[in-house]
Amino acid sequence: KKDTIILGIETSCDETAVAVVRNGREILANVVSSQIESHKRFGGVVPEIASRHHVEQITYVLEEAFNQSNTTWEKIDGIAVTEGPGLVGALLVGVNAAKALAFAKQKPLVGVHHIAGHIYANRLEKEFEFPLLALIVSGGHTELVLMQEHGEYELIGETRDDAAGEAYDKVARMLNLPYPGGPQIDRLAELGQETITFPRAWLEQDSYDFSFSGLKSSVINTIHNAKQRGEELKKEDIAASFQASVIDVLTTKTVRAAKDFNVKQVIVAGGVAANKGLRNALETSFAELNIPLLIPPFKLCTDNAAMIAAAGTIAFEQGKRSELSLNARASLPL
Ligand code: KG4
Ligand code: ZN
Repeated sequence: KKDTIILGIETSCDETAVAVVRNGREILANVVSSQIESHKRFGGVVPEIASRHHVEQITYVLEEAFNQSNTTWEKIDGIAVTEGPGLVGALLVGVNAAKALAFAKQKPLVGVHHIAGHIYANRLEKEFEFPLLALIVSGGHTELVLMQEHGEYELIGETRDDAAGEAYDKVARMLNLPYPGGPQIDRLAELGQETITFPRAWLEQDSYDFSFSGLKSSVINTIHNAKQRGEELKKEDIAASFQASVIDVLTTKTVRAAKDFNVKQVIVAGGVAANKGLRNALETSFAELNIPLLIPPFKLCTDNAAMIAAAGTIAFEQGKRSELSLNARASLPL
């Protein structure tokens, strides 16, 4: 069988990324240009700045992906691009680039859901086994997705307020740590102790949903009250205590869902999957249960285009195509 080589494009947030992937599993090139430095002084991603950066970067990143992969357009079988969810002005840059290339080079085009991409980042490491449970934890998402086969996603739980990464970034801000806060809290947590027991939002007994806004408020109040008493809490301990609460809820609910649905594999995806504490807790729990756990290497946890090409390959194989009228969508169901 002939190889399938897919070009992936991702511009949903603050990374301009282009990748080339063979057969949905093998990375030939994975180029990511990060804008984090430009957004740092604002404490978060500024949509207008993100769009401008994508426009400036996209052609260079594309060229670099071709150089790294030693690919020519003749070998490319299709173009996969993130169509949503994300910042609409940022998404539009990738979508328009993909459409222009598809038209000029006469290649088929497929729009990919950003979260499907995060899930398929795992397949670049190891083949999927179904039923499969995916925990997606990123700056915009906290979801438990059940998959019975390729390209089929059943949402069984999601956050009712803040995403896990969002909670990390907000708590980091309260502690005056630079953006993005997740890695900073992760680093501090390793040095601290869980001296404060922050709340865990378990919600209804059988719910796989999450909630992190109560935890966030509790952290604010704790810091505020300590200040009023003239006490200085150690940042390391706040970080460790906050992280313990997040990890406890994420791990417990993922384990319960994995057992309830009798899954053959658990995968973790999204930026927060880079968290050392979370990786350890999940690894320990699933080793005990004897359920194979897959967490992508750090580089594939955060936004990249190899994951979009990987998810796009499945979409192409299933006969899905997008028209040249494809549009960017700020919100999009999985
Ligand atoms: O998947 P991602 O790169 O972008 C989105 O699609 O949102 O995730 C970014 C999020 C940010 O909130 C960042 O703070 C968080 O992932 N993050 C972490 C860690 N590394 C990145 N959170 C906790 N611990 C980390 N080590
Ligand atoms: Zn993402």
